[in-house]
Amino acid sequence: MAPTILIAGATGNTGRSVVEKLPELLKGTDMSCYRILALTRSANSAAAKALAKLPGVEIVEQNWVEIDEQWLREREVHRIFIASHNQPNAFAEEGQFLVNALRAGVKYLVRISTTAANVRPDILVYYPRTHWAIEQMLSQPEFSSMHWSSLQPNGFAPMFLTPAAEFIKEFKKTGKQGHVSMIIDASTPTALIDSYDVGVVAAHLLAEEQTAPHDQKRYVLNGPEDVTGEEVVKLVEKYIGEPVKDVRYRDLSFIDDMANNSSESKNVLLSIKGAPTTSWEGKAKAETTSKEILELYAPKRTVSEVLKELVEG
Ligand SMILES: NC(=O)c1ccc[n+]([C@@H]2O[C@H](COP(=O)([O-])OP(=O)(O)OC[C@H]3O[C@@H](n4cnc5c(N)ncnc54)[C@H](OP(=O)(O)O)[C@@H]3O)[C@@H](O)[C@H]2O)c1
Repeated sequence: MAPTILIAGATGNTGRSVVEKLPELLKGTDMSCYRILALTRSANSAAAKALAKLPGVEIVEQNWVEIDEQWLREREVHRIFIASHNQPNAFAEEGQFLVNALRAGVKYLVRISTTAANVRPDILVYYPRTHWAIEQMLSQPEFSSMHWSSLQPNGFAPMFLTPAAEFIKEFKKTGKQGHVSMIIDASTPTALIDSYDVGVVAAHLLAEEQTAPHDQKRYVLNGPEDVTGEEVVKLVEKYIGEPVKDVRYRDLSFIDDMANNSSESKNVLLSIKGAPTTSWEGKAKAETTSKEILELYAPKRTVSEVLKELVEG
C-alpha cells in the first residue's frame, strides 16, 4: 500500500482547498506516490460529492473522532491535516486523535489553530485555550517523533462577511435596507483571511519533502491587507448605490442565540464573546503574518474579492 496523507475536516472551510491543491503540489515530486484520503461523515453531502470529482483523491466516509491507532496503521498514514471542530470537548477529541496518530507512527501533522493573539493559557474564551493546550501537548518531548505545524489564522473572511453579503442580496431583491451586522470594529484595522488561502498554505506544508524546518512551529496567518468595519461598509455601499442606514459594528448577538439553543454550558459558550477583543485592540493586523508563510505561500485574496464571490457566487 502507498503511504497516505489523511485530510480530516476535508469538506470544511479550510480542508476543501487542502484537498484541491495537494494533488497538483505533489505531482512530479518524490511524494507523487502518496495517496490522499479525504474524510467526511457523509459521502452524500454536496461538499463531499464535489471533492469526490477531484482527480487523485479518495473520499472515505469516516468520522475522524472515532479513528484509532490501528485504523491509521492499516492505511499507512504518514501525514495528517486536521481542522477540528470548536466544541467544548475539542481537547478530548482532537487530543485523542493526535495521541493515536503518535502511536501509529505518523510523521507530520498540520493543524488549524486560531487567531494568534488569542492562543494563551489565560484567554477568557474557551476554544483558543483548547488550541493553546493542544499546542502545549504537542510541544512535549513525548511527541518529538511526530513533526507538527499549527496554523493560527485571523477570522475567516467568508464567515465574517456573510451578513454584509446577505444585506446586499436582500437589497437587490427588494430595494429595501435591513441592517449590516459586523463582528469587526468600525475603525480598527484587521486582516481577515480567506479560509481558502489557509487551506492552500496547509497544502504547501503537507507537500514539503523536509518537514523538520516546520516542526513545532506556530505560524501566524492573515489576509493580504487590513480593513476596518467602515471600509467594509463603503464596499457594501458601492453594491447598493446609496448610504447604509443601519450598521452594527462589534455585533455579537448571534452568540446569545447559539448559547440559548445549545445543551452545552452557557458560561462556556458565552465566553466566545471575548474572541474578537484582541482584533478590536489592533492585535490581528497583516503585519503579524509569519515571514515563513509569506515565503511559502502568501495569502492573496482580499476582503473585496471574498465579498464579490459571496454576492455573485
Ligand atoms: N471561523 C473562523 O473565523 C476561524 C478563524 C480562525 C480559526 N478557526 C479555527 O478553524 C477550525 C475549524 O476549521 P474549519 O472552519 O476549516 O472547519 P469546519 O469547516 O468547521 O469543519 C470541517 C469539517 O469537519 C467536520 N465536522 C464538523 N463538526 C464535526 C464534529 N463535531 N465531529 C467530527 N467532524 C466534524 C465537517 O465535515 P463532514 O460533515 O463532511 O464530516 C466539516 O465540514 C476551528 O478549530 C477554529 O478554531 C476558525
